[in-house]
Amino acid sequence: MALPPHVRIVEVGPRDGLQNEKTIIPAAAKIELINRLSATGLQTVEATSFVSPKWIPQLADAAEVFAGIDRKPGVRYPVLVPNEQGYDRARTVGAEEIAIFTAASEAFNKKNINASIDESLARFEPVLARAKADGVAVRGYVSTVLGCPYQGEVPVSDVVRVARALHAMGCYEISLGDTIGVGTPGKARAMLLAVAEAVPMSALAVHFHDTYGQALANILACLEEGVAVVDAAVSGTGGCPYAKGATGNVASEDVVYMLHGMSIATGVDLDRLVETGRWLASLLGHETNSRVNKAKSAA
Ligand code: HMG
Ligand code: MG
Repeated sequence: MALPPHVRIVEVGPRDGLQNEKTIIPAAAKIELINRLSATGLQTVEATSFVSPKWIPQLADAAEVFAGIDRKPGVRYPVLVPNEQGYDRARTVGAEEIAIFTAASEAFNKKNINASIDESLARFEPVLARAKADGVAVRGYVSTVLGCPYQGEVPVSDVVRVARALHAMGCYEISLGDTIGVGTPGKARAMLLAVAEAVPMSALAVHFHDTYGQALANILACLEEGVAVVDAAVSGTGGCPYAKGATGNVASEDVVYMLHGMSIATGVDLDRLVETGRWLASLLGHETNSRVNKAKSAA
């Protein structure tokens, strides 16, 4: 079980993190957050989400935020897009990478994007066609890969079907989301290996929420199987408002600390990341969810 020498972290704090926060921070603070994150050495910072502002009021200022960031050369700034309307809004402000999202569970998809799985895939067809024509890279998310707040167990075969479909449609990378953070390492490993039979491992990423404190263990199990892209959110913010019981993403600080401790390179300056996490927590008015951040603050 060879571990990858380098892991690319996809920082999702400005999107997954902020979409679930009670406190809505101003666009200027979101812009500063994204700029601070890119200055840590992160190669991918998911910047915001062009979904319906009625569904996610926290990110209603997506256009203003995206237009305001300093786009650092070599850094990718994907944005969430649920439909063609979102694609238009994202392109108007110059987004060059988008992320589309669906789920392995019908019940969750209905709550989150008001569509069945197949309806959502059909909705993405024209988005992908336009992205291809425009030279826009597309990432795909599959949610509820290890459990659903409404249907409970999610068959691995459903995860494989949706991941395969997104990859076949043209997504260069598929992020496998444990939306409600219920997975454990054995299940995470088995799910990943099943998906890797349909989609190359090099095109897979993992996205763990830490509700039950299993995220780092799950990540390690997946790294041992060859995954080298990990989603995480600074300060452990995050969650999906349409996934009952979902708490924060695994904290980026904790992932970087673990990886560097295992001599796996990330290109991220941990001290700067910790400082950014601390700054964000103070803006949001609550304690950080990052264990590394807490430990470093106490030291
Ligand atoms: P709908 O109500 O079925 O859509 O929502 P609609 O097409 O009927 O439109 C309704 C209204 O929304 C219309 O406005 C549209 O113009 C507007 P009205 O005529 O009523 O004034 N609208 C839009 N406005 C701006 N931008 C748009 C847009 N689309 C429609 N793009 C829809 C369907 C998909 C839009 C809605 O359900 C939605 O936005 N859902 C997003 C929910 C969401 O963002 N959830 C969190 C992200 S997913 C997640 O966190 C999981 C992940 O992290 C991985 C993991 O953890 O597993 C990715
Ligand atoms: Mg998420």
